[in-house]
Amino acid sequence: MKGLLHFKCENVVRMSNSVNAYWLRVLDTERYGECDYGKHLLLKYPDAANRVQRRNYSIVGRPDEGLIEIAVKRQAGDGVSASIHQSLTRNSILIADEVSGALTSQSLLRYRRVLMVCGGVGVTLPVGLARGLAKLAEQGNQVPEVHLIVCVPQYDDLIYFTELLALQARYKWLSVATFVTRESVRPGISYLMSGRPDPCRLVNQITAPEAILLCGSGAFVADWERQLRCTFPGAMILNQHRSDTERVPSSPAASERTCKMLLAGSDRVLIGNRGDTLLETLEANGVAISNQCRMGVCGRCSVRLIEGEVESSSSIGLTSLELEKGYCLACCTRPSGEAVTLEL
Ligand code: FES
Repeated sequence: MKGLLHFKCENVVRMSNSVNAYWLRVLDTERYGECDYGKHLLLKYPDAANRVQRRNYSIVGRPDEGLIEIAVKRQAGDGVSASIHQSLTRNSILIADEVSGALTSQSLLRYRRVLMVCGGVGVTLPVGLARGLAKLAEQGNQVPEVHLIVCVPQYDDLIYFTELLALQARYKWLSVATFVTRESVRPGISYLMSGRPDPCRLVNQITAPEAILLCGSGAFVADWERQLRCTFPGAMILNQHRSDTERVPSSPAASERTCKMLLAGSDRVLIGNRGDTLLETLEANGVAISNQCRMGVCGRCSVRLIEGEVESSSSIGLTSLELEKGYCLACCTRPSGEAVTLEL
């Protein structure tokens, strides 16, 4: 934990009717290096009732030395995003608890083929990663082949569209397919389609990816994850978002069964159910562990599995050494047997 970061807003760019991009100058200049493409800021910002809230935003760009870019979609209601759209202007000062996350363009260099699927404003993370990969490619690095599928309900929701087309034209490792799901598109435009993409057809269109990044709402991510796990069973799934309220249990029967959780070095035995994450069971039993993003990215909630069977939907926040030692991410891991023993 390195403490708060301070930013000054230097530019506001209107990307669509509901999305603004903000260029933020990192005032703690020695920490600019931490703000890599794909990392996320835990921003502190007051909502309409002046209550300070914390929200994660991906770093989608580094437009100039010392600057980072985030994009914020204004959601309905009086929440933080509406407040940001209303009051974050040039010269505003703002604070982030920290910048964190293990999913960066650099971290993708370990793969040869990556499939990214995003819905709506979820495109910001793939754009950030593609921009970062472009820089790495220019520096002579071997970057993975990236196939990016962008889904938006309507034309007005398209953001970064022309930039993605330009990147695709320039770099042969990037291919982009954009789908407008609720409006029709004139036939014959190769890079823009109407309707929903069919995950099953992908197997005939691309070589099996080693990793799949899913970004968007919880329902979007859960739906694609379920289908792509069948289409590409060998691929590592890197989920960018899954909110607790939208979480889909692995199966109704599984969620009804309980699981004992033993904590190494303690006499406590916790009771949870197999549909809940380890983090949810720990918290429900009054055991606090460090966590931040709750989506498998920051790596804060890592715990070591000593005994028992689990299923993890993400391990992107872990190093390969931690994986070897049996660590898993408590926010993205569910027990699949009757008992687990964890070292916290
Ligand atoms: S990986 Fe961030 S809280 Fe679990």
